[in-house]
Amino acid sequence: MIEFHCLPDPEELAEAAARRVLAAAETAIAARGRFRLVLAGGQTPLAAYRRLAEVSADWGRWEVFFGDERCLPPGHPERNDQAARLAWLDRVPIPPAQIHPIPAELGPKTAAERYAELIQLHLPFDLVLLGLGEDGHSASLFPGHPLDADALVVPVDAAPKPPPERVSLGLRALSEAGSVLVLVSGQAKRQALARLRAGDDLPIARIRPRGQLLVLADAAACG
Ligand code: 6PG
Repeated sequence: MIEFHCLPDPEELAEAAARRVLAAAETAIAARGRFRLVLAGGQTPLAAYRRLAEVSADWGRWEVFFGDERCLPPGHPERNDQAARLAWLDRVPIPPAQIHPIPAELGPKTAAERYAELIQLHLPFDLVLLGLGEDGHSASLFPGHPLDADALVVPVDAAPKPPPERVSLGLRALSEAGSVLVLVSGQAKRQALARLRAGDDLPIARIRPRGQLLVLADAAACG
């Protein structure tokens, strides 16, 4: 069951998202001594990432993964891991060995195989962050494209959102999570969010986390 919360504006959305990430971290670290977090790509989560760069946390116990990555060279400004590093990860003392970028520069197939081997050692995730595209995609799982319920990591060769070559966590990895938090901001997402609320078969609707699947959206997206 998907829960939806509408917040007044992007600032409140970023603040609520950062608070929920920190709360999930405290719970996981208290229970298991580790917090395994999957980051969303795109622009929406960056405001929350910038807030997380300003707080203190038990960073040495955080383990960071990525929900998807574009097949671009390391350090490329359009890579999701690069955006997260600039906004947050390079500004807090998470041990570098505990930040796990997707080796998307190896190409979709090889990178998906390598990342699947890695994440098998770290499942279940405690929290997965996702965005929502205007067409209803999340991570690099696109509506109307084949979705394998058993896939841990999938290669993407013809993504409708450029660049076409990507790597994405699959439905099984996204569901092997304590909880999933989807961040949606802006008028441009209004239709996609309405489709999700109406029960359309979007990728998010196929994710079955062990706990909560919560969509946090600002008023511009909620309509
Ligand atoms: C990507 C992201 C993608 C993103 C949505 C929303 O690599 O592009 O992982 O799934 O979350 O496209 O993007 P915005 O937050 O930029 O609108």
